[in-house]
Amino acid sequence: MDKAKIAVFVSGGGTNLQALIDSAAAGQMPHARLSLVISSKEGVYALERAKAAGIPAYAVPRKTFDSREAYEKEILKMLDQEEIDLIVLAGFLSVLSADFVSKFPDRIINIHPSLIPSFCGDGFYGLKVHEEALRYGVKVTGATVHFVNEVTDGGRIILQKAVSVEDGDTPETLQKRVMEQAEWVLLPRAVEQISKEICDSNPDIKVHSYSNS
Ligand code: GRF
Repeated sequence: MDKAKIAVFVSGGGTNLQALIDSAAAGQMPHARLSLVISSKEGVYALERAKAAGIPAYAVPRKTFDSREAYEKEILKMLDQEEIDLIVLAGFLSVLSADFVSKFPDRIINIHPSLIPSFCGDGFYGLKVHEEALRYGVKVTGATVHFVNEVTDGGRIILQKAVSVEDGDTPETLQKRVMEQAEWVLLPRAVEQISKEICDSNPDIKVHSYSNS
């Protein structure tokens, strides 16, 4: 292995996935290889983005399985087959069990669209996060990339970036600014940072330079 193999879990439009694809294409993630995309929903645009980039991509909807156990067993099988080193949750709306999460200590990361510990935890996803930030009246918000543990949005923080709240913001305008200025910048940076740590922890790994990757 010369690069950490990454699985990106998605549920929607996949703009964060696109940021990873673009960053990899620009040679900015030399220690990471995007190897698998798993969507919790059929027909989402994230799957198209993955296919256009030549990344194996599959929809694995929870509702097509009898139990959470069977669902997670299928996901584990896919991760095993691709020999995945790091799981990136990029707008993944299905809940992973504590049992699943505990199998991958420090090997699952998530992007959350606020400065944790503000506006996070159960129920804080999508526009709701920005609605609450505006309702509270904060002047600064942002995004956080963190490790995933059994507590929703509770794992160790990896990177954060602040974004200004402007007069007249709506949840939609704030969401867009947080994505453009923070999420799409932070996520590739965090993936490269953790991938490098994974590669560096194995002395046999020789990392390809940009030119021969
Ligand atoms: C992003 O706001 C991300 O922070 C959150 O879900 C959203 C996903 O958007 N976890 P996209 O599918 O990457 O466009």
